[in-house]
Amino acid sequence: MNKKTIRDIDVSGKKVLVRCDFNVPQDENGNITDTRRILGALPTIKYLIDNNAKVILCSHLGRPKGEVKKEFSLEPVREELSKELGIEVKLAEDICGENAKLLTSNMKEKEVVLLENVRFDKREEANDKEFSKELASLAEIYVNDAFGTAHRAHSSTAGVAEFLPAVSGFLIEKEINFLGEALNNPKRPFIAMLGGKKVSDKISVINNLLEKVDKLIIGGGMAYTFLKAKGLEIGNSICEEDKIELAKELMQKANDKNIELILPLDIVIANAFEKDAESKPVDVDKMEPGWEGMDIRTKNYRKIYRSIKNSKYNYVEWTSRCI
Ligand code: 3PG
Repeated sequence: MNKKTIRDIDVSGKKVLVRCDFNVPQDENGNITDTRRILGALPTIKYLIDNNAKVILCSHLGRPKGEVKKEFSLEPVREELSKELGIEVKLAEDICGENAKLLTSNMKEKEVVLLENVRFDKREEANDKEFSKELASLAEIYVNDAFGTAHRAHSSTAGVAEFLPAVSGFLIEKEINFLGEALNNPKRPFIAMLGGKKVSDKISVINNLLEKVDKLIIGGGMAYTFLKAKGLEIGNSICEEDKIELAKELMQKANDKNIELILPLDIVIANAFEKDAESKPVDVDKMEPGWEGMDIRTKNYRKIYRSIKNSKYNYVEWTSRCI
């Protein structure tokens, strides 16, 4: 990887702002249901602690859209981090306001402060220069270790790097090394699996992957745009109408290159996107108007399982929490 990492700089005694991706799933009571994103950030955090840095962590959680909303607070993450690190991690009440300044101004080496959800400020997603500057003013070094959010040009992921010496954390390093190897020198058959809601977010990824993979699995919300492009009824399922032509082109490209494109075969449909909605299993060609596609079912699981089992290398980019 031709990027500097925390190994390449002296962090001792320095305030280091680390952008993590602590966007963890939670149940209705706010309990974290999968801690892998927190665990993934630990090697970087532990290295900084071991090397006597003053560690300031930041992340987004969910999409509070610039408003302070209790259900999107990073408090559950603070609790989990304290448990994993075996020290008391403090949570600032704000991002770079009075409380964050207070907690970070007199930090001792090896202390860890977590800033509140960066998306509580609408300037974060706008990559606002002033907000980036305010964030940067809390620290002396910036570390990006938020692999899951690396595709977003926001203040805490991109803007802040203009105002501080910036390096990568170990998670970013690990993922770049893995992806570099997988994409530049793949063992075949090479299979990629993509999820997420929007085709528009993934066009260049899909286009690039179609130059390299032997099979491409498409799941998540964007699969319905492809199903509609195939002429199927998709009811009220998520669909980007203006990307149907593009989906057709991508399917044609896959076909021309003899790449198997695996789309949902059977799914659960529901009459509303609600907990108590009526739902039923159907094959994708039996979807009905007024119903909405939710999750894939067994024929699709089996097909995906067999494909992955037979592949030598697989690149799984599961941007969505649902398929
Ligand atoms: C994710 O969960 O995909 C990342 O944390 C990015 O979240 P976002 O899609 O809300 O930017």
